[in-house]
Amino acid sequence: MSGIVIVGAQYGDEGKGKIVDVFSDHADFVVRFQGGSNAGHTLVVDGQKVVLHLVPSGILHRDTKCVIGPGVVMDLDGLVAEIQTLEKLGYLKSPDQLLISELATLILPYHRALDAAREESLSDQKIGTTGKGIGPAYEDRAARRALIFGDLFHPETLKQKLELILEEKNALLKQVYGKKTFKLNDLLEDVQSKVKLLKDFRCTDTSLLVHKAMKSGKKVLFEGAQGTLLDILHGTYPFVTSSSTIAGSACTGSGIGPTSISKVIGIMKAYTTRVGAGPFPTEMNDVIGATLQKTGHEFGSTTGRPRRCGWIDIVALKYAVRLNGITNLALMKLDVLSGFERIGVCTHYRLNGETTSDFPVTAADLEKVEPVIEYFPGWKEDLTKLNSLKDLPRNATNFIDFVGNQLATPIDVISVGPDREQTLWVKPLFSA
Ligand code: GDP
Ligand code: IMO
Ligand code: MG
Repeated sequence: MSGIVIVGAQYGDEGKGKIVDVFSDHADFVVRFQGGSNAGHTLVVDGQKVVLHLVPSGILHRDTKCVIGPGVVMDLDGLVAEIQTLEKLGYLKSPDQLLISELATLILPYHRALDAAREESLSDQKIGTTGKGIGPAYEDRAARRALIFGDLFHPETLKQKLELILEEKNALLKQVYGKKTFKLNDLLEDVQSKVKLLKDFRCTDTSLLVHKAMKSGKKVLFEGAQGTLLDILHGTYPFVTSSSTIAGSACTGSGIGPTSISKVIGIMKAYTTRVGAGPFPTEMNDVIGATLQKTGHEFGSTTGRPRRCGWIDIVALKYAVRLNGITNLALMKLDVLSGFERIGVCTHYRLNGETTSDFPVTAADLEKVEPVIEYFPGWKEDLTKLNSLKDLPRNATNFIDFVGNQLATPIDVISVGPDREQTLWVKPLFSA
């Protein structure tokens, strides 16, 4: 069975959406397995931009089925808006293109309110969340009190569960945070108004569906959200998201066994960005960082916040290769590096007087590291119109080779622009 996992190898926004869209041409299924609408995955086709938050990035391909698995936390308002936008654009022509697990967790307005209230209460210790209610929703799931997608189709259960949970949420919002509370009937009415639209996408057991598909030889992509360094356990805790973002999560979040995965593709930018708070060793608050931000249009696809920028970080990427078991890499946004006289690559960290190539696992240590940067001569040529790898300037090839060698992992795809077409192929994805 051949399942391929696509994961972010940095702090999110590496270009996962673009790569999933490109690969979906050859995929029968694309499965989202974690996260929620904190994700913003941008696809550009013939100049038209589509930003997806919950719907898997295979949706622009008519023959690719998209699955939202049990590990996803799903904002009902956001989902309905996204479906309507896709329909307006002429995509998602038939409901059998999108299948939503009855086990997926629901995000309701009180989750967003709690997310905002908690951030506000943290004053100068803010995580800088996307405000989409992700943390509070996963808390409910772990505490076994969450509403799930299947509850929508059982009005009595829905009412009972909502009544119970609202008591606790309202107490928290009012007494702990001094915020507005929610009324049961308003919420119920709002949720029920969405059931009609969403019922056609209901799938009781997406894990069975995906299993059968793989067993019959169908090609399945598992689309990660966020990035390795935002993982709840292995990221720069507490400056992380609330789900497991690494490749293993594709199994738990969609309900398939690890032996069903044949490849893990790590997506990385040719430099590094981070949005939100937390340590970032190669961050550059100077003209180079500002140039990367401007040329790379580094503003969040979900919140519009400016992304912090810095050189590529091999120490962090080696950690990502190891945690995810990355077998192949995609190098994104190489075009953004055109015009720099020299290009930095962080090969090591200095920590407590020692040089190391091991990623320090605590945020406190990571805050203290100094990056050791090796510089490579840059290139002036515009890469966005290239069709072939052999047309890359020699200095660009040297940079790519150095990164690939350092990570001891083949770089199979190089991306030189946001559009689907601006992709230089090294190796086809579904080859043996
Ligand atoms: P994701 O969250 O990993 O899917 O990434 P985002 O969509 O949040 O951010 C990546 C941004 O870079 C989007 O605006 C993409 O359109 C854009 N992008 C992707 N690949 C390339 C590339 O090779 N070059 C340039 N210039 N932009 C790219
Ligand atoms: P994609 O899938 C980049 C960051 C937030 C914040 C932290 C916690 O587009 O790569 P959360 O709302 O999840 O509780 O926020 O995680 N974050 C992302 N950063 N890309 C994302 O998704 C992100 N999703 C969450 O900025 O620092
Ligand atoms: Mg994004």
